[in-house]
Amino acid sequence: MKYAETVLDLIGHTPLVKLQRMVDSATMASIYMKMEQLNPAGSLKDRMAVHMVRRAEEQGLLKPGTTLVESTSGNTGLGLAMTAAVKGYRCIFTMPDKMSKEKIDMLKAYGAEVVITRTDLDHDHPESYVQVAKRIARETPGAVYTDQYYNQANPEAHYLTTGPEIWEDTDGKIDCLVGSIGTGGSISGAGKYLKEKAAEAGREIRIVCPDPYGSIYKDMFERGEHDEPSIYRVEGIGHDFMVGTLDFSVIDEIRNVSDKDSFRTARRLAREEGIFCGGSTGTVLFGAMQVAEELGPGRIIVCILCDSGDRYLSKCFDDDWMKDMGYLDDAHRLGTVRELLRFKDGHVVYASSDETLAQIAHRMNELGISQMPIVRTRDERYLMIHEADLLQTLVTGECTPDDSVLRAAKPLQGQVSMDDPLSKVQRIFDSDNVAVVVEKGAITAIISKIDIVEFLAARRWH
Ligand SMILES: Cc1ncc(COP(=O)(O)O)c(C=O)c1O
Repeated sequence: MKYAETVLDLIGHTPLVKLQRMVDSATMASIYMKMEQLNPAGSLKDRMAVHMVRRAEEQGLLKPGTTLVESTSGNTGLGLAMTAAVKGYRCIFTMPDKMSKEKIDMLKAYGAEVVITRTDLDHDHPESYVQVAKRIARETPGAVYTDQYYNQANPEAHYLTTGPEIWEDTDGKIDCLVGSIGTGGSISGAGKYLKEKAAEAGREIRIVCPDPYGSIYKDMFERGEHDEPSIYRVEGIGHDFMVGTLDFSVIDEIRNVSDKDSFRTARRLAREEGIFCGGSTGTVLFGAMQVAEELGPGRIIVCILCDSGDRYLSKCFDDDWMKDMGYLDDAHRLGTVRELLRFKDGHVVYASSDETLAQIAHRMNELGISQMPIVRTRDERYLMIHEADLLQTLVTGECTPDDSVLRAAKPLQGQVSMDDPLSKVQRIFDSDNVAVVVEKGAITAIISKIDIVEFLAARRWH
């Protein structure tokens, strides 16, 4: 028989998945997602949760029936609750009220007690989630505060597992690790291991941490002091206080990412790569995509994916929530040019500058199209020949059928890029018959009205 002794034996050994659509391989480094949402309780925190409990057991701190207490944004709680269920401990968790209802319900499903605290309180305020957890641990007989922010078993779990897995799966070829900082456990542990291995091999690895605007980590990393922290909505990462599990010495760079970019990137990851993850993975990936452009083709970036998207269905995967928060304007409800092009054959038929109007008319007729861009002129500009202009110039006698197509061609109008909302395309249709998708100076597609209609009909406001 092939089976795991307990569900805890299924933690770790998560695979890497290469991003295909969100990364342009001609201009960007490759990005591989470390699929931590495949851990049994759905996040990167399963590794440290089980490791903290094992270390506490080794130290003789836990007995059957012991109560584990932790302050958590949800995922450490889920890992601990799963571990506690297997091993017969009780759990009480404190969580700030900005965390999703799904996470609270999931914790309860594992049999944990959850105490909700206010998000807007300073971490040393007696009613903050950290202080309430400490108080509960003090006041509950035989309770143990696992203290993820200072417990060195947290980074150690990633030093012993996440780091080695990434090194092995990339055959030691990784150039850059991009990961979030909540407690800092994952990036500090995995980063330390990878830097050590790279040094042994005589190479270097860059460690980059995208972090929300409003968190103090970037300020502290760069200046050793910080501006007033502010509230952001991405869950599980960034902080308004420093923690003992974060090792700045392994990090090369921290860059800030907005809530809007984080959530929208998480949504793209689901729709374009079929990888369903939460907002903090969006933060990480948004930063990683910037790094991928900077590093260029041929380099290898590994992103530590944080958790599964199922716990954020009422947040960044809910269009109404996104709209209420101002992250999804009406324009984006329709979708983007990129989304539409996945429904449509992007093949563009060009006219050649030495073709005559008669030849073009014949080809348009044969192909059932009403316009053709003309392969680039000597000054590198594109022109477009429209059926209407062809007709107009012939009817008025301005041109003869044997004239060059260039005589009736017009400069390219109605240009859009891949990430433009379809509402922009719609506005172009007020004055033009088609919108032309231009990426890095090249025409990649032509969108007509019927393309939008077909896309919306197939998509039905997903
Ligand atoms: C959703 C989410 N993303 C990222 C992280 C960051 O992980 P770490 O604490 O290892 O820095 C956490 C940690 O709780 C999390 O819950």
